[in-house]
Amino acid sequence: MPELSKRIRALKGSSTVAFDSRAKELARQGVDIVAMTAGEPDFQPPGHVLAAAREAIEQGKTKYTPSEGTMDLRRAVSAKFQRENGLTYATDEVMVSTGGKQVLYNGFMAVLEPGDEVVMMAPYWVSYPAQVKLAGGVPVAVKTSPETGFLPELGAVEAAVTPRTKVLLLNSPSNPTGAVYPPALVEGLALLAVKHGLWLFSDDLYEHLVYDGEFTPAARFAQDRTLVIHGASKGYALTGWRIGFGAGPKALIAGMNRLQGQSTSGANALAQHATVAALNEVEKTAEFQRMTRAAYRERRDVLVDGLNRLGLATPKPAGAFYVMTDVTNIDPDEGVAATRLLEEARVAVVPGTDFEAPGQVRMSYATSLENVREALRRIEALVS
Ligand SMILES: Cc1ncc(COP(=O)(O)O)c(C=O)c1O
Repeated sequence: MPELSKRIRALKGSSTVAFDSRAKELARQGVDIVAMTAGEPDFQPPGHVLAAAREAIEQGKTKYTPSEGTMDLRRAVSAKFQRENGLTYATDEVMVSTGGKQVLYNGFMAVLEPGDEVVMMAPYWVSYPAQVKLAGGVPVAVKTSPETGFLPELGAVEAAVTPRTKVLLLNSPSNPTGAVYPPALVEGLALLAVKHGLWLFSDDLYEHLVYDGEFTPAARFAQDRTLVIHGASKGYALTGWRIGFGAGPKALIAGMNRLQGQSTSGANALAQHATVAALNEVEKTAEFQRMTRAAYRERRDVLVDGLNRLGLATPKPAGAFYVMTDVTNIDPDEGVAATRLLEEARVAVVPGTDFEAPGQVRMSYATSLENVREALRRIEALVS
C-alpha cells in the first residue's frame, strides 16, 4: 500500500476514545462497568426539539442547505447571542457547522500560517493541539493547577505570547477542568488579545452548564477579533445531531465558509431545522436547561465530596460536567491509575496524559446519580 501523508501519520488518535473503546469492549464481554468517560449529556433532547425534527422529516426538509447554514437557523443563532449575551451579530457574521468541532477547525484553518502559535491553557481539550497542528500551527500551553482551580494567571499567559502568536484560545467553562473564568479574568484575557493584536477564539460550548458564578462571553470585550465557538451539543443535549455555530467578523466567517463549502457543504439539514426550535422556543429550552443543570449540580457535589473523602484530591469545578481528580494515591502514573480504575474497580475514566494533566484523571458526571454513587463505592474498595 502507498504511504499515508505525514500530516495523518503525525495525528494522534484520541485517548478518550481509546479508554472508552476498552470500557465498551469489557461491557460487551459482560463486565459491569461504570462509565465516566463520556463527554455528552445522558439526557434525551427536549421534547419540542424532537417534535421539530419529526416535522422536518415530514415536511421534506431533506435537501442541501446553504453551506453557511439555513437563514432560519442563522437568524435564531444571531437572536440567541443578542438575547443571552448582549452581542449583536448580523446573519453574515454567524455560520452553522458540523458541531462546534468543525467551527473550531474552520477557524484555525482560516487564520493560521505554518508556524503560527496558538496559546491555550493546560489541561486542555485534546482536540485543540491536534487541530492546531493539522492547520500547520504550533500549540503553546500555559499550565494551570488544581490549587488555583485551574484558573490561569494573566502574567503567565502574556509571558507565553511571542511574535509568532496568532491566536489566544479560551474555554470557559472548561473541558476537562470544569473551571469557569470570573468576568475580570475573561476581560483581562480579551484585552491581552487586543494588546498583542491576536485573534481571540472563545470556546463557549458549555455556556449553559454553570453551577456557581456566571458565564462571561469573551466576545463582549473584543468582538471585532473574536471567533465564538458554540453549538447545540452540550447545553441542548444534541451531541449526535452535529450542529455547531460560530460567530465572528464577517471576513473571517466568509473565509471559514469557503473552506466548509469545499469540504462538507455544511451541516445536516434535518438537524438544522430542529435546532431552530431549540433556540427559538426560549421558555421550553430554558426549563430543560434548568432541570439538567440541577441534576448535574447534585451529581457534581456527591462526586467531588465523595472523592475528597476517599483521599483523591478533587477541586470543585463551577461548570461543565467533568472533574479532575488526583490519582497519585492509586499510582503516580495516571495512565496506570486509569487502567487500575478500569480493570480492578470497573470504573472507566480518562487519564490526564493527553490533556497535560499529570497525576490526574478526568471523570465525567454526565451519568446518573446512582452511577456516581456506585463509582464511589468501587473506588473506595480499590483505595482501601
Ligand atoms: C471544549 C469543547 N469544545 C468543543 C467541543 C465540540 O463539540 P461538538 O463538536 O459536539 O459541538 C467539545 C466536545 O467535546 C468540547 O469539549
